[in-house]
Amino acid sequence: TLTQAEKAAVVAIWGKIAAQVDALGTESLERLFSSFPQTKTYFPHFDLSQGSAQLHDHGSKVLGAIGEAVKNIDNITGALATLSELHAYILRVDPVNFKLLSHCILCSVAAHFPSDFTPEVHAAWDKFLSKITSVLTEKMFTVHPQTKTYFPHFDLRPDSGHIRCHGMKVVAALGEAVRQIDNISEALSALSNLHAYNLLVDPVNFKARASQGRGESPRGA
Ligand code: HEM
Repeated sequence: TLTQAEKAAVVAIWGKIAAQVDALGTESLERLFSSFPQTKTYFPHFDLSQGSAQLHDHGSKVLGAIGEAVKNIDNITGALATLSELHAYILRVDPVNFKLLSHCILCSVAAHFPSDFTPEVHAAWDKFLSKITSVLTEKMFTVHPQTKTYFPHFDLRPDSGHIRCHGMKVVAALGEAVRQIDNISEALSALSNLHAYNLLVDPVNFKARASQGRGESPRGA
Protein backbone atom coordinates (compact mmCIF):
# COMPACT_ATOMS: atom_id res chain seq x y z
CA THR A 1 0.00 0.00 0.00
CA LEU A 2 1.04 3.56 -0.60
CA THR A 3 2.20 5.75 2.28
CA GLN A 4 0.56 9.12 2.84
CA ALA A 5 3.62 10.83 1.34
CA GLU A 6 3.45 8.64 -1.77
CA LYS A 7 -0.27 9.34 -2.18
CA ALA A 8 0.42 13.06 -1.87
CA ALA A 9 3.14 12.82 -4.55
CA VAL A 10 0.78 10.99 -6.93
CA VAL A 11 -2.03 13.48 -6.37
CA ALA A 12 0.29 16.49 -6.78
CA ILE A 13 1.66 15.55 -10.18
CA TRP A 14 -1.76 14.38 -11.33
CA GLY A 15 -2.84 18.01 -10.99
CA LYS A 16 -0.56 18.74 -13.95
CA ILE A 17 -1.26 15.57 -15.92
CA ALA A 18 -5.01 16.19 -15.74
CA ALA A 19 -4.68 19.21 -18.02
CA GLN A 20 -3.04 17.04 -20.71
CA VAL A 21 -4.89 13.74 -20.41
CA ASP A 22 -5.45 13.40 -24.16
CA ALA A 23 -1.86 14.09 -25.19
CA LEU A 24 -0.33 11.92 -22.48
CA GLY A 25 -2.73 9.06 -23.06
CA THR A 26 -2.09 9.05 -26.79
CA GLU A 27 1.65 9.27 -26.29
CA SER A 28 1.63 6.41 -23.77
CA LEU A 29 -0.15 4.16 -26.27
CA GLU A 30 2.15 5.22 -29.12
CA ARG A 31 5.14 4.33 -26.96
CA LEU A 32 3.50 1.01 -26.04
CA PHE A 33 2.84 -0.02 -29.64
CA SER A 34 6.23 1.06 -30.96
CA SER A 35 8.37 -0.38 -28.14
CA PHE A 36 6.27 -3.51 -27.59
CA PRO A 37 4.54 -4.23 -30.91
CA GLN A 38 3.18 -7.57 -29.63
CA THR A 39 0.64 -5.52 -27.61
CA LYS A 40 -1.01 -4.47 -30.88
CA THR A 41 -2.60 -7.91 -31.09
CA TYR A 42 -5.21 -6.79 -28.55
CA PHE A 43 -6.35 -4.05 -30.90
CA PRO A 44 -6.97 -5.73 -34.27
CA HIS A 45 -10.07 -3.54 -34.70
CA PHE A 46 -8.19 -0.25 -34.18
CA ASP A 47 -6.40 2.06 -36.57
CA LEU A 48 -3.08 2.23 -34.70
CA SER A 49 -1.26 4.64 -36.98
CA GLN A 50 0.30 7.60 -35.23
CA GLY A 51 -2.23 10.27 -34.30
CA SER A 52 -5.29 8.19 -35.31
CA ALA A 53 -8.61 9.19 -33.79
CA GLN A 54 -9.00 5.78 -32.14
CA LEU A 55 -5.59 5.96 -30.54
CA HIS A 56 -6.40 9.40 -29.23
CA ASP A 57 -9.80 8.36 -27.95
CA HIS A 58 -8.48 5.23 -26.26
CA GLY A 59 -5.51 7.05 -24.76
CA SER A 60 -7.78 9.52 -23.05
CA LYS A 61 -9.98 6.69 -21.76
CA VAL A 62 -6.98 4.91 -20.23
CA LEU A 63 -5.65 8.04 -18.57
CA GLY A 64 -9.20 8.97 -17.55
CA ALA A 65 -9.38 5.66 -15.65
CA ILE A 66 -6.07 6.44 -13.99
CA GLY A 67 -7.55 9.79 -12.98
CA GLU A 68 -10.45 7.92 -11.36
CA ALA A 69 -7.88 5.88 -9.41
CA VAL A 70 -6.17 9.08 -8.28
CA LYS A 71 -9.50 10.53 -7.11
CA ASN A 72 -10.22 7.32 -5.22
CA ILE A 73 -6.70 6.66 -4.08
CA ASP A 74 -7.93 5.05 -0.85
CA ASN A 75 -10.27 2.70 -2.72
CA ILE A 76 -8.67 1.90 -6.07
CA THR A 77 -10.16 -1.60 -6.07
CA GLY A 78 -13.68 -0.21 -5.86
CA ALA A 79 -13.05 2.56 -8.38
CA LEU A 80 -11.75 0.15 -11.04
CA ALA A 81 -13.99 -2.86 -10.34
CA THR A 82 -15.82 -2.78 -13.68
CA LEU A 83 -12.60 -2.25 -15.64
CA SER A 84 -11.03 -5.15 -13.79
CA GLU A 85 -13.84 -7.45 -14.90
CA LEU A 86 -13.59 -6.16 -18.46
CA HIS A 87 -9.84 -6.79 -18.73
CA ALA A 88 -9.94 -10.16 -16.98
CA TYR A 89 -13.04 -11.81 -18.42
CA ILE A 90 -13.73 -10.16 -21.72
CA LEU A 91 -10.45 -8.78 -23.03
CA ARG A 92 -8.30 -11.45 -21.30
CA VAL A 93 -5.26 -9.19 -21.29
CA ASP A 94 -2.15 -11.09 -20.21
CA PRO A 95 -0.88 -9.37 -17.03
CA VAL A 96 2.63 -8.87 -18.46
CA ASN A 97 1.18 -6.18 -20.70
CA PHE A 98 0.21 -4.02 -17.75
CA LYS A 99 3.86 -3.71 -16.77
CA LEU A 100 4.67 -2.58 -20.31
CA LEU A 101 1.90 0.00 -20.40
CA SER A 102 2.78 1.27 -16.92
CA HIS A 103 6.35 1.76 -18.09
CA CYS A 104 5.19 3.75 -21.11
CA ILE A 105 2.91 5.92 -18.99
CA LEU A 106 5.83 6.68 -16.66
CA CYS A 107 8.05 7.60 -19.61
CA SER A 108 5.42 9.96 -20.98
CA VAL A 109 4.92 11.66 -17.62
CA ALA A 110 8.70 11.98 -17.18
CA ALA A 111 9.11 13.44 -20.65
CA HIS A 112 6.38 16.05 -20.12
CA PHE A 113 7.22 17.06 -16.56
CA PRO A 114 10.97 16.51 -16.17
CA SER A 115 11.45 18.80 -13.22
CA ASP A 116 8.48 17.38 -11.29
CA PHE A 117 9.58 13.81 -11.95
CA THR A 118 11.95 13.48 -9.01
CA PRO A 119 13.11 10.06 -7.83
CA GLU A 120 10.48 10.25 -5.06
CA VAL A 121 7.66 11.03 -7.50
CA HIS A 122 8.94 8.32 -9.82
CA ALA A 123 8.89 5.75 -7.01
CA ALA A 124 5.42 6.82 -5.88
CA TRP A 125 4.01 6.58 -9.43
CA ASP A 126 5.64 3.21 -9.92
CA LYS A 127 3.91 1.91 -6.83
CA PHE A 128 0.61 3.53 -7.80
CA LEU A 129 0.67 1.97 -11.29
CA SER A 130 1.57 -1.41 -9.78
CA LYS A 131 -1.45 -1.11 -7.55
CA ILE A 132 -3.65 -0.36 -10.57
CA THR A 133 -2.12 -3.36 -12.34
CA SER A 134 -2.92 -5.68 -9.44
CA VAL A 135 -6.48 -4.42 -9.33
CA LEU A 136 -6.95 -4.92 -13.06
CA THR A 137 -5.45 -8.43 -13.08
CA GLU A 138 -6.53 -10.08 -9.84
CA LYS A 139 -10.02 -11.31 -10.69
CA MET A 140 -10.04 -15.08 -10.50
CA PHE A 141 -9.03 -15.41 -6.87
CA THR A 142 -10.92 -12.23 -5.98
CA VAL A 143 -14.29 -13.38 -7.22
CA HIS A 144 -13.99 -16.82 -5.67
CA PRO A 145 -11.57 -16.34 -2.77
CA GLN A 146 -12.52 -19.69 -1.23
CA THR A 147 -10.62 -21.32 -4.11
CA LYS A 148 -7.39 -19.98 -2.62
CA THR A 149 -7.61 -22.59 0.16
CA TYR A 150 -6.39 -25.24 -2.30
CA PHE A 151 -3.21 -23.27 -2.91
CA PRO A 152 -1.71 -22.59 0.55
CA HIS A 153 1.74 -23.30 -0.88
CA PHE A 154 1.40 -20.82 -3.80
CA ASP A 155 2.34 -17.18 -4.13
CA LEU A 156 -1.12 -15.94 -5.20
CA ARG A 157 -0.23 -12.38 -6.04
CA PRO A 158 -1.24 -11.41 -9.57
CA ASP A 159 1.27 -12.53 -12.15
CA SER A 160 3.31 -14.60 -9.68
CA GLY A 161 5.44 -17.40 -11.13
CA HIS A 162 3.18 -19.97 -9.46
CA ILE A 163 0.03 -18.53 -11.01
CA ARG A 164 1.50 -18.25 -14.49
CA CYS A 165 2.95 -21.75 -14.38
CA HIS A 166 -0.23 -23.33 -13.07
CA GLY A 167 -2.39 -21.38 -15.53
CA MET A 168 -0.32 -22.78 -18.39
CA LYS A 169 -0.78 -26.33 -17.07
CA VAL A 170 -4.55 -25.89 -16.87
CA VAL A 171 -4.72 -24.54 -20.41
CA ALA A 172 -2.43 -27.33 -21.69
CA ALA A 173 -4.80 -29.92 -20.19
CA LEU A 174 -7.75 -28.24 -21.89
CA GLY A 175 -5.79 -28.45 -25.14
CA GLU A 176 -5.26 -32.16 -24.57
CA ALA A 177 -9.02 -32.59 -24.07
CA VAL A 178 -9.70 -30.71 -27.30
CA ARG A 179 -7.24 -32.91 -29.21
CA GLN A 180 -8.97 -36.03 -27.89
CA ILE A 181 -12.46 -34.65 -27.95
CA ASP A 182 -14.03 -38.06 -28.63
CA ASN A 183 -12.20 -39.62 -25.72
CA ILE A 184 -11.96 -36.98 -23.01
CA SER A 185 -12.30 -39.45 -20.09
CA GLU A 186 -9.29 -41.36 -21.29
CA ALA A 187 -7.28 -38.24 -22.12
CA LEU A 188 -7.76 -36.79 -18.64
CA SER A 189 -7.86 -39.99 -16.58
CA ALA A 190 -4.59 -39.32 -14.74
CA LEU A 191 -5.73 -35.77 -13.94
CA SER A 192 -9.09 -37.12 -12.83
CA ASN A 193 -7.43 -39.49 -10.34
CA LEU A 194 -5.16 -36.70 -9.10
CA HIS A 195 -8.04 -34.25 -8.44
CA ALA A 196 -10.32 -36.87 -6.91
CA TYR A 197 -7.98 -39.00 -4.79
CA ASN A 198 -4.98 -36.81 -4.02
CA LEU A 199 -6.16 -33.23 -4.13
CA LEU A 200 -9.79 -33.89 -3.05
CA VAL A 201 -11.08 -30.82 -4.89
CA ASP A 202 -14.78 -30.17 -4.26
CA PRO A 203 -16.58 -30.36 -7.65
CA VAL A 204 -18.24 -26.94 -7.17
CA ASN A 205 -14.85 -25.35 -7.83
CA PHE A 206 -14.74 -26.71 -11.35
CA LYS A 207 -17.84 -24.66 -12.19
CA ALA A 208 -16.23 -21.49 -10.88
CA ARG A 209 -13.20 -22.08 -13.09
CA ALA A 210 -15.15 -22.87 -16.23
CA SER A 211 -17.45 -19.85 -15.90
CA GLN A 212 -14.52 -17.52 -16.43
CA GLY A 213 -15.18 -17.90 -20.16
CA ARG A 214 -16.27 -15.12 -22.49
CA GLY A 215 -19.80 -16.54 -22.81
CA GLU A 216 -20.63 -16.21 -19.14
CA SER A 217 -18.89 -12.95 -18.34
CA PRO A 218 -20.35 -10.90 -15.50
CA ARG A 219 -21.19 -8.22 -18.04
CA GLY A 220 -23.33 -10.74 -19.88
CA ALA A 221 -21.44 -10.11 -23.11
C1 HEM B 1 -10.32 -0.92 -22.80
C2 HEM B 1 -8.08 1.26 -19.08
C3 HEM B 1 -4.32 -1.77 -19.60
C4 HEM B 1 -6.29 -3.52 -23.66
C5 HEM B 1 -10.02 -0.06 -21.76
C6 HEM B 1 -10.86 1.03 -21.33
C7 HEM B 1 -10.23 1.64 -20.30
C8 HEM B 1 -8.99 0.94 -20.07
C9 HEM B 1 -10.73 2.85 -19.50
C10 HEM B 1 -12.21 1.42 -21.96
C11 HEM B 1 -13.30 0.66 -21.25
C12 HEM B 1 -14.67 0.93 -21.84
O1 HEM B 1 -14.77 1.42 -22.97
O2 HEM B 1 -15.63 0.63 -21.10
C13 HEM B 1 -6.89 0.59 -18.87
C14 HEM B 1 -5.95 0.91 -17.82
C15 HEM B 1 -4.90 0.05 -17.96
C16 HEM B 1 -5.18 -0.79 -19.11
C17 HEM B 1 -6.15 1.99 -16.76
C18 HEM B 1 -3.63 -0.06 -17.14
C19 HEM B 1 -2.99 0.95 -16.62
C20 HEM B 1 -4.51 -2.46 -20.78
C21 HEM B 1 -3.51 -3.30 -21.41
C22 HEM B 1 -4.06 -3.77 -22.56
C23 HEM B 1 -5.40 -3.25 -22.65
C24 HEM B 1 -2.13 -3.55 -20.83
C25 HEM B 1 -3.44 -4.67 -23.61
C26 HEM B 1 -2.22 -4.51 -24.06
C27 HEM B 1 -7.56 -2.97 -23.76
C28 HEM B 1 -8.47 -3.24 -24.86
C29 HEM B 1 -9.63 -2.50 -24.61
C30 HEM B 1 -9.40 -1.79 -23.37
C31 HEM B 1 -8.22 -4.19 -26.05
C32 HEM B 1 -10.89 -2.46 -25.47
C33 HEM B 1 -10.71 -1.42 -26.54
C34 HEM B 1 -11.96 -1.23 -27.37
O3 HEM B 1 -12.32 -2.15 -28.08
O4 HEM B 1 -12.57 -0.15 -27.27
N1 HEM B 1 -8.89 -0.09 -20.99
N2 HEM B 1 -6.39 -0.44 -19.62
N3 HEM B 1 -5.64 -2.46 -21.55
N4 HEM B 1 -8.15 -2.11 -22.89
FE1 HEM B 1 -7.30 -1.35 -21.23
